[in-house]
Amino acid sequence: MINERNEPISLQAALDSFDRLWSPRIVTQVNDYDVRIAKVGGEHIWHSHADTDEFFMVLEGELSIALRDAEGEDERVVVLPRGAVFVVPRGVEHKPFSPAGASLLMFEPTGTSTVGEQHDPVPGHIDATTGHRLG
Ligand code: NI
Repeated sequence: MINERNEPISLQAALDSFDRLWSPRIVTQVNDYDVRIAKVGGEHIWHSHADTDEFFMVLEGELSIALRDAEGEDERVVVLPRGAVFVVPRGVEHKPFSPAGASLLMFEPTGTSTVGEQHDPVPGHIDATTGHRLG
């Protein structure tokens, strides 16, 4: 377990401990799931996770997520203001974006890649990772 000492964790202090965008930090774990936080801004890439749903909660700012089906059709955008939660179902292609920036909390199975298995080329501003430990 990441939070071995099982001490309370300040999400604000955790967010203040790093700056990199699109590079989630693992705050703690629940059973087989990571609780991750991330700072985001601009656009992520289209990708999907074949084996898991992905839970998002917006802590600060506003996040949008573009969604489309496996054929690349039926595209829509959900807009998540601060305090909103949303689940991207497994297999659904999605592209998070946030023109003005946001801070997020996510739940996903430990080992889940930020860019999924099916994805566009990964540009330099996006960290393809299964999450980093907090400082
Ligand atoms: Ni995703």
